[in-house]
This record gives sequence, structure tokens and C-alpha cells, in this order.
Amino acid sequence: MNRILITGANRGLGLELTQQCAQRGDRIFASCRSPEKAAILEEIAAKHPGQVTLLPLDVADEQSIAACVARVAAEVKALDIIFNNAAIHGGDEHLSEVTAEILLKVLNVNAVGVVLVAQKFLPLLKKGHHPKLINISSEAGSISRMDHFRGYNYYGSKAALNMYTRSLALDPETAGVTVIALHPGWVRTDMGGADAHLSATQSAAGILKVTDGLAPVDNGKFYTWEGIEYPW
Ligand SMILES: NC(=O)c1ccc[n+]([C@@H]2O[C@H](COP(=O)([O-])OP(=O)(O)OC[C@H]3O[C@@H](n4cnc5c(N)ncnc54)[C@H](OP(=O)(O)O)[C@@H]3O)[C@@H](O)[C@H]2O)c1
Repeated sequence: MNRILITGANRGLGLELTQQCAQRGDRIFASCRSPEKAAILEEIAAKHPGQVTLLPLDVADEQSIAACVARVAAEVKALDIIFNNAAIHGGDEHLSEVTAEILLKVLNVNAVGVVLVAQKFLPLLKKGHHPKLINISSEAGSISRMDHFRGYNYYGSKAALNMYTRSLALDPETAGVTVIALHPGWVRTDMGGADAHLSATQSAAGILKVTDGLAPVDNGKFYTWEGIEYPW
């Protein structure tokens, strides 16, 4: 039984991770911006009494993160896994159309938010059993694989997230926590679209298998949902 925090748990991959973790008996803090509107999450919680707690969390809002830490700390002494899953895409504008406002918004949610979640939950995570911080990144954040124009917002934010992942992994303050970036594959969600290769079920199952198999030697690595190392 792992004690797990999932961000962006109300739909897409976060919802599927919640579902699969609940099925295998984990204790889950399923966070999202508007839990009062998360009907499917409510159903999962009802099916697994005492296992799934819905909590409000906007990863772009420091006060919201602090309030979420307090709610989790009131229920458990430690967290074993955090899935930093929440993200936005922002759009693929060319240079003439991109704005500072959208660039900063996407960076804030997809990268800065992950660092702040890590910072504020670290005391709980450090008390966990073989604690793991899983930053759901993307092949879109791989600088070496970017060989044609795709956009600025999402790509820059995931590249920043990848570097933040390495920083988090190597920061002496996170000693004992295994930190990785993980590409979930191209997944049929609102973000991935209907043509994507993988169902959320397949991707989440892969993510959980990779997470379960992590050892301290994996700290600071970038893996795919199949456990294959991906180039930065
Ligand atoms: N789908 C793919 O093909 C694919 C490929 C590579 C990487 N990824 C990554 O996989 C992860 C999950 O993506 P997905 O496909 O499941 O996306 P999705 O279906 O668009 O879901 C995104 C989730 O993030 C939440 N979110 C957005 N902004 C937030 C904020 N400020 N605070 C808290 N939650 C917020 C959304 O909540 P609301 O409902 O409140 O908006 C939603 O729960 C993301 O990190 C994404 O970048 C996905």
C-alpha cells in the first residue's frame, strides 16, 4: 500500500492513475482544481471507501499547494509517491503570435508548479517508504529530439521541467527521494486527442510498472512509460 498524491486527477491520465492505484489498494490523495465538479473521481472514491480523498489543488497557486499539504498531513504521516501530472498545452503559435502572458502561464503550471509542489510536500515525501517523485514530462521536452518547428509554450515548459527534474534529483535537500521525468506516450486524452496511440489505461499501467521498479540508481533519469531511457 503506497500513500500517493496525484495532481490533475479529475480527467485524462491523472484520473486513470487514480483508478488503477485505487484498484490495487493504495491510499490516494486525488487532487484537482475543482473537486466539486469531479464526478468520476467521486465515483472512484465511493467504490473504495477510506482509500481515496479528493482535495482541491491548483499547482499554479502557492497558497493552494500549502493548503493541500496541510490537508494531506492531517491524514497521513508520510507520502511514498507524488505524480506531478497536471499540465496545460497552451497552443502551437509561431513567433509572431506567441505572447509573454501565455508563455509564462504554461511555464508556471507545467514547470514552476512542479517545483513548488515538490518543495512544499518534501517533508512528507522524505518520511515515505522508498519515496518517489514522478514528474510527468513529455518527449516534447527533449531538446535533442526537437528537429522541426512544433511551438514554444508546451515545448519550452517541458524542457524546463526536465531540467528542474535533474535539479530536484541532484539537490542534497531531496536526498533519499528518487526523482524522475517520465514521458507517458501519446495518449488518448483531451490533450493527446482521439488519434493518439495509447489508451489512458495502457499508459497508466506502464507508468505504475516503471514507478514500482524504480531504484535509487534511477534518480535523475528520463524514462518512457515503457521504462526505456529517453534522450534529454
Ligand atoms: N496525452 C498525451 O498524449 C501526453 C503526451 C505527453 C505528455 N503528456 C503529459 O501527461 C500529463 C497528463 O496529460 P493528459 O493527457 O491527461 O492531459 P489532460 O487530459 O488535458 O488533463 C490535464 C489535467 O491537468 C489539470 N490541470 C491543468 N492546469 C492545472 C492547474 N493549474 N492545477 C491543477 N491541475 C491542473 C487539468 O485539470 P482541469 O480539468 O481543472 O483543467 C487536468 O486534470 C501532462 O503532464 C501532459 O503534459 C500527455
